[in-house]
Amino acid sequence: MNTENQKKIAAEKATESIQSGMVVGLGTGSTVYYALLKLGTMAREGLDIIGIPTSEGTEKIALEQKIPLTTLATHSTIDLTIDGADEVDKDLNLIKGGGAALVREKIIANASQKILIVVDESKVSRVLGTTFPLPVEIVRFGWEATQTEVNRICGRSTLRVASTQDGKQNPLITDNSNYILDCHFDGILAPAEVELQLNNIPGVVENGIFVNRADKIIIGTSSGIQYMG
Ligand code: 5RP
Repeated sequence: MNTENQKKIAAEKATESIQSGMVVGLGTGSTVYYALLKLGTMAREGLDIIGIPTSEGTEKIALEQKIPLTTLATHSTIDLTIDGADEVDKDLNLIKGGGAALVREKIIANASQKILIVVDESKVSRVLGTTFPLPVEIVRFGWEATQTEVNRICGRSTLRVASTQDGKQNPLITDNSNYILDCHFDGILAPAEVELQLNNIPGVVENGIFVNRADKIIIGTSSGIQYMG
């Protein structure tokens, strides 16, 4: 089974946990996309759910799929969130933010009673930070000074850029109007500590380490579904 199909089976498996009446956190990314398509079909067929998106991109897809939406202001508790990840370890720790949505994803995760993470098998890692750089969202003011402080922890980071329509490279601006640093660790052996250390730097809004958040990781593999948690 190829990677795309691995993403699809993992995401569709997660939607089997959604029941009528639920407030559902809607993650971001190419894996969750398949869950959004499935939830759209289920909602149009009568499943009574209401979603809270983790990004403007997901909001757009959810609206196209006719998934009813709400906000944390109206529903402060989310029954179940389905989200993706960039790297996962056997302790269910995650690196997220490859899609630049990590701030809203962590806020949604914090408000969620249950979190299902959907990935393909390439995301499983022995030590976090060895296969994917850690995204850190920072405010634009004084960002170079913030980067210097972040580098004291990770060694080296790069400002994430995005291509404009005319082919220029500009700093990527998140949904929250901030920048992203991608931090190149040689492995994150103590994720809980590093998460706190990074968030203690003035100018850092949030980082993509998620510890003790996921209840279950659903992994699409070449031979079918596997679970962690
Ligand atoms: C977005 C995320 C995504 O969940 C993560 O990047 C995984 O995306 P994909 O399923 O496209 O690999 O954290 O900020």
